[in-house]
Amino acid sequence: MSMHRVNSEHGLAWVTGASSGMGRALALRLVRDGYSVVVTSRNHDRLVALQQEAAAEGRIIVLDGDVTDPQDMERVLASIEYDHGDLSLAVFTADVAIPVRGDDLHREAFEQSFAVNVNGVVNCLLPAVAHMKARGQGHIAIVSGVAGYRGLPGNAAYGATKAALINMAESLKPDLERIGIRLQVIIPGPVEATGSARLGFPGVAAISADAAAGQIVAGLRSKHFEISLPNATTAMTRLARWLPYGAYCSLIERVTRKKGMPPVSTVKSAKSAERPPQAV
Ligand SMILES: NC(=O)c1ccc[n+]([C@@H]2O[C@H](COP(=O)([O-])OP(=O)(O)OC[C@H]3O[C@@H](n4cnc5c(N)ncnc54)[C@H](OP(=O)(O)O)[C@@H]3O)[C@@H](O)[C@H]2O)c1
Repeated sequence: MSMHRVNSEHGLAWVTGASSGMGRALALRLVRDGYSVVVTSRNHDRLVALQQEAAAEGRIIVLDGDVTDPQDMERVLASIEYDHGDLSLAVFTADVAIPVRGDDLHREAFEQSFAVNVNGVVNCLLPAVAHMKARGQGHIAIVSGVAGYRGLPGNAAYGATKAALINMAESLKPDLERIGIRLQVIIPGPVEATGSARLGFPGVAAISADAAAGQIVAGLRSKHFEISLPNATTAMTRLARWLPYGAYCSLIERVTRKKGMPPVSTVKSAKSAERPPQAV
């Protein structure tokens, strides 16, 4: 079956986590591509600022919502479909990145990470799939991250949620394709974060959110299931994916001993100073 590809003529795009970072940059890119874009997050003022920034180029529709609340997401979907038009493309970027270390464990860090990053995606996925299934077409992309490929110190909660999303997308892909819905998984490497500070290796160069959004749009148009960006960094971590445990563990041990592994990376732009790293 030939799968539905991103095309602004087909209807509306929906981006969660659009108040900052990649979600925001992606919403602006999609507007420039001719989409009417529904943007969702909890911060109404930031979404309205985004709407005003895009006003000269196209239409952004602000629908506040907390992805951890399934009824909120049902309401957002109902508003998209009944007030604005058919949902064609949905990209789920909303997340939290909370550092977790083995010697300082907090239940809340795991609960909050899974509530936003995994259940939050499920809460958006269910109503989106229901509406797309009724039409027999649609396109969904779930944002995971390289931390989902293999375990990394500091990433016990965040990395586990991102691994879960990769597994979830792999599992759902064939079933959704059978009902006409295209599913992709987006795997960013380090990207300048404007919201929550990011976990990661020190010294790994980050690309801008706008450059990442450009690569995501290109990936959405491609035939690939996995959209990985930026390529140099993700290629390295992809290779690490295939290392046997002995080699992987000693690599991580060497890197963390040599360079140190801070709980949060320096992958932050000046803007991120507005919101301190989330800690539980
Ligand atoms: N930046 C990186 O280096 C990097 C690397 C790998 C993967 N990623 C992934 O790429 C995606 C975007 O990352 P980013 O750094 O650009 O993100 P970001 O700037 O930190 O933005 C996160 C977004 O999620 C929203 N959000 C958080 N909790 C929410 C909730 N309960 N309900 C609704 N929205 C919520 C925030 O909006 P409000 O606070 O307004 O609700 C914000 O818009 C994430 O999935 C992240 O895991 C990022």
